[in-house]
Amino acid sequence: MSHPQTTSRYQAAPLSDPGSGAAPRHVALIMDGNGRWAAKRGLPRFEGHRRGVEALRRAVRAAGELGILYLTIYSFSSENWRRPESEVSDLMNLLRRFVRDDLAQLHEAGIRIKVIGERGNLAPDIRSLLEEAENLTRDNGRLVLQIAFNYGSRQEIARAARLIAADVAGGRLAPDAINADLFADYLDTAGVPDPDLVIRTSGEQRLSNFLLWQSAYAEFVFLPIHWPEFDRSSFEAAIAQYASRDRRFGGTSSKERPL
Ligand code: IPE
Ligand code: IPE
Ligand code: MG
Repeated sequence: MSHPQTTSRYQAAPLSDPGSGAAPRHVALIMDGNGRWAAKRGLPRFEGHRRGVEALRRAVRAAGELGILYLTIYSFSSENWRRPESEVSDLMNLLRRFVRDDLAQLHEAGIRIKVIGERGNLAPDIRSLLEEAENLTRDNGRLVLQIAFNYGSRQEIARAARLIAADVAGGRLAPDAINADLFADYLDTAGVPDPDLVIRTSGEQRLSNFLLWQSAYAEFVFLPIHWPEFDRSSFEAAIAQYASRDRRFGGTSSKERPL
C-alpha cells in the first residue's frame, strides 16, 4: 500500500509573500474527526485515520510555506488507550508507517522532529523509531514538528512536578527557585515557545488534555470540518481569524479600536 515517493512531500519553498506578516510562530493542531469523517461515508474508522495522515502531510507542507516555525500535532492522547484494541493498534501502525515512509523526506526538507508525551508504555520498536526521528533531525532548523504521542497535559505537568521534587530532594534545586519559567523547563515542551494558535477540527470546542499549561495565552480556532478535510485553505482561514484577534496578554490593546 505504501510506496516510496519520488517527489518530495515536504520540500516547499516558503512563499515570497507568506501573508501580512501576522503568521503565528507556533501553531498546535488537534486533529479531530477522523472517525466521523469515515462514518459519514460508510467507511471504517481506519479509513478516516489513513486519510488523516494525508491531511497531516498537507498541514506540514502548508506550515512551512506559511512561515510557521513550530507545528505541534496531537496524534494520540493518554486517554486514547480507552478505544477498542483494534483501533489503538491501527493508530500505532499508522505512526510506525508515517515515520518509516516520511522520515527521510522530512529530514531533507529541514524539519526537526520532537516528540512529547509518555514513552514508557509504548512498544519498544515505536520508542526506537521516535528516537531515530529525533536524532536524525536534531540539527534541522526550518520547522519544528512537535508530535504529541501518548500525550496528556495533566500527566506531563505531574511528571514535571515529580522531576522538580526529585531535584529538590537531591539538593540540586531550592524550593524558592520554583517559578513559572522554571516549571516550564521541566515540561516535555521545554525550549519550545508557547503556541500562538490552537486549531481544532471536527466542531468540538475543548482541549481534551492538550497543552493546558502552554496554551495560557493561545488563540483558539475551531473549524467545522473533519480532520481528513483539512487543507491549505483551511489553514489559511484559521490564520486569518488569528490575525484579526487582539492579543492582550493581560495588558491593554495594541490596536485601541472602538467597540
Ligand atoms: C482523531 O479522530 C484521531 C485521534 C483521536 C487519534 P477521532 O478518531 O477522534 O475521530 P472522531 O472524533 O471519533 O470523529
Ligand atoms: C483528541 O481527540 C486527541 C487527538 C486528536 C489525538 P479525541 O477525539 O480523543 O478527544 P475527545 O475524546 O473527543 O475529547
Ligand atoms: Mg475525536
